Amino acid sequence: MRDFLSQQGLIRAALLSTIFATEAVGTAIRRTTDCHSNHYPGPVNPSFETGLAGWTVISGDAFGNASVSSATSYWGGPFNQVGKNFLWGFAESGDPAVGQLRSSTFQASSVMSFLVGGGWDPINLYIGLVRASDGKLLLSQTGPQDEALIRIVWDTSTYAGQNVYIIAYDNSTATSWGHINLDDIRTGCDALGDGGLTFNVLGQANQPVQNTSTLSPSQLYAADSVRPQFHYTPYQGWINDPAGLIEWNGRHQLFSQFNPVAPYWGPMHWSHADSPDAVHWHELPVALFPPDPQNPADTSGRYTGSAVLDKNTGALQLIFTDFTDTTFHPNAVPEVVSSAKSTDGINFPLYSGNPIIAGPPAGSPSGFRDPKIFWDPIENSWKLVVGSGDATSGKVQLFTSSDPNLLQWSYVGVLTEGDGSTGTMWECPNFFPLDDKWVLFYGGDSVGWYEVGSYNGTKFTSEKIGLLDQGPDSYATQWYVDSAGRNLAITWMGNWPTSKWPSRVNGWAGVQSITRELFIRDDGGLGSKPIDEVSTLASGSATVLGATNVHGTITVGSSNTARLQLSVDLASTDAPAFTILLYSSSAEHLGLTYTVANRTLTVDTTNAGYGQAGTWSAVIAAPSNNVLTLDVLIDRSSVEVFVGDGTAMTATLFPRYQESQDIKIVSNGGKTVFQSVSLTPLGSTWI
Ligand SMILES: *[C@@H]1O[C@H](CO)[C@@H](O)[C@H](O)[C@H]1NC(C)=O
Ligand SMILES: *[C@@H]1O[C@H](CO)[C@@H](O)[C@H](O)[C@H]1NC(C)=O
Ligand SMILES: *[C@@H]1O[C@H](CO)[C@@H](O)[C@H](O)[C@H]1NC(C)=O
Ligand SMILES: *[C@@H]1O[C@H](CO)[C@@H](O)[C@H](O)[C@H]1NC(C)=O
Ligand SMILES: *[C@@H]1O[C@H](CO)[C@@H](O)[C@H](O)[C@H]1NC(C)=O
Repeated sequence: MRDFLSQQGLIRAALLSTIFATEAVGTAIRRTTDCHSNHYPGPVNPSFETGLAGWTVISGDAFGNASVSSATSYWGGPFNQVGKNFLWGFAESGDPAVGQLRSSTFQASSVMSFLVGGGWDPINLYIGLVRASDGKLLLSQTGPQDEALIRIVWDTSTYAGQNVYIIAYDNSTATSWGHINLDDIRTGCDALGDGGLTFNVLGQANQPVQNTSTLSPSQLYAADSVRPQFHYTPYQGWINDPAGLIEWNGRHQLFSQFNPVAPYWGPMHWSHADSPDAVHWHELPVALFPPDPQNPADTSGRYTGSAVLDKNTGALQLIFTDFTDTTFHPNAVPEVVSSAKSTDGINFPLYSGNPIIAGPPAGSPSGFRDPKIFWDPIENSWKLVVGSGDATSGKVQLFTSSDPNLLQWSYVGVLTEGDGSTGTMWECPNFFPLDDKWVLFYGGDSVGWYEVGSYNGTKFTSEKIGLLDQGPDSYATQWYVDSAGRNLAITWMGNWPTSKWPSRVNGWAGVQSITRELFIRDDGGLGSKPIDEVSTLASGSATVLGATNVHGTITVGSSNTARLQLSVDLASTDAPAFTILLYSSSAEHLGLTYTVANRTLTVDTTNAGYGQAGTWSAVIAAPSNNVLTLDVLIDRSSVEVFVGDGTAMTATLFPRYQESQDIKIVSNGGKTVFQSVSLTPLGSTWI
């Protein structure tokens, strides 16, 4: 029996789809044609520069004069208002207050845009366009679950000339994110861009409704201007950790921690996709659903886990953490290990004898989750590592099984524990042999760590420690071995403390990395690179520059879905540094700078759009032949950088403008000598 919540979720999702799908999908809003016709002035005081003049409080106390704020930053960064003031829904009476504020009446133009911020709740929190004659809500847009303001663009051509007004609607009594922010309402051509640049068309009204669309998956996923095209994303909702990676019946299986009803974390489901080659994905039905909730705030769910082939039956077995929310189930053990098995690769009935590990061993007060199964050739048995920790250090708990059904496990002991410098709760441990070493990786202190060392059947001895990825957006990496014997991994291109998810205005958040192949680096550390099959994503022929000396700046091309591969002759280069600009326009870019003297590669997102702003650096091993190679995957709102020595750096960014696509190389103060530069357009991952 499918549980109640999943059905509720689908019903709620369907309800939201209906609201959003009110009118035509506006993905083809064109600056040149659409915005010039039917251009009328917008509302009085569209940017709150004169307080609430022209605006009327219709009801409640959520909005008032104090809502108009000139604050420029909050705990997470700048608000990014236009002009001095904006409407900060929190400022008048905090989160739980409810109320409605409306603008003066104006005639709809063919296009309009505005800035939105605040909580994500499409039913209770939105900026709406209302027809004056009958009070009908024509379009609505909820917030990004962030204070920072994001530009929403609406195709209003259907209503052009009609009398309308804007409403700020807050019926949320939530004590966190129960408010909505608004600024800078524009109509006509100004609505579509600034200073010769064109805004990316963002907003839920521009997303086709998945289940009624006649578009193919690749067309559907392409309609969103900030959605990666050759990376796995949820069409709507939230994903975090990849899970259950395995090649089963000749197809690679990718599951993800998934909340289908909102683009933020909630009761965890497992989404599911499979692939013939680990780069082209086919979406499958949700594999695991949370248990029936008695209360909608109950966050009980199916946390991260792993997969194994049941050799007796050929079934696909999942082994994962069952999380029970003790706020609603005070006597429950919060984290236990459970199992589900599928014979068809679609339906995953739960084992009736769950849990298979009823609770944590002693010494696990920080948590007990993310079981990962592996074959131990030393003891010729199946083993399970589970993440854990105590007040002073993270640790990995080790279990073993001699049960052919892998449903009975006994505790071995602590495989290894940290010294506290890598956090006090290790999540998502993975443990496996690679070459003649053993590799452990885990998430601790919101960073993905690896350790390389040795193992004797009960204990791991570390010889080398490092970061799995040195960019800001990688966590919860999962490993598996494919049928060719390659050690592969996928990482969640997100992280709790650093990431921002502006794509929430389009209803989704979360990206899984391209499949990576792992190897032991020359220095004994763990390296990664894109699997060879990434080349099959090419959608056209490469632009190849061949040997190129760069003085000053050259433009390599213009694309936001491409693979840039470069090799630099460091012996002949006399510039102290060079920078690769990606997602570049006159307004913004992401910078990737290599400084020759200290061999440092720095990712800089300080002016890369709506996403996080910062710099992250990695020291690159000196190449023995003095040739530095970079393999850069560029995908609309992400970048994955792979260096020849095995360093990986992953970042997300959300460009504001459609023109932010240029790829340039800047040689800083001298000559940078490239042996080759090639730029290959890549296509969609969806099949
Ligand atoms: C699609 O969603 C609508 C609601 O928007 C729902 O009525 C319909 O049953 C769904 N169709 C399918 C095929 O799931
Ligand atoms: C805002 O302040 C003005 C001037 O003091 C006042 O007339 C108006 O009633 C106030 N509006 C609200 C909604 O409190
Ligand atoms: C606002 O939310 C309450 C429940 O919190 C609900 O009873 C009420 O109908 C909502 N108001 C509107 C106008 O939808
Ligand atoms: C494995 O190593 C640990 C720690 O060095 C040691 O205590 C244990 O006896 C070893 N086990 C075997 C089977 O060698
Ligand atoms: C490397 O050198 C550059 C340029 O001098 C400097 O900005 C950067 O901080 C240095 N990085 C490290 C890790 O030393």
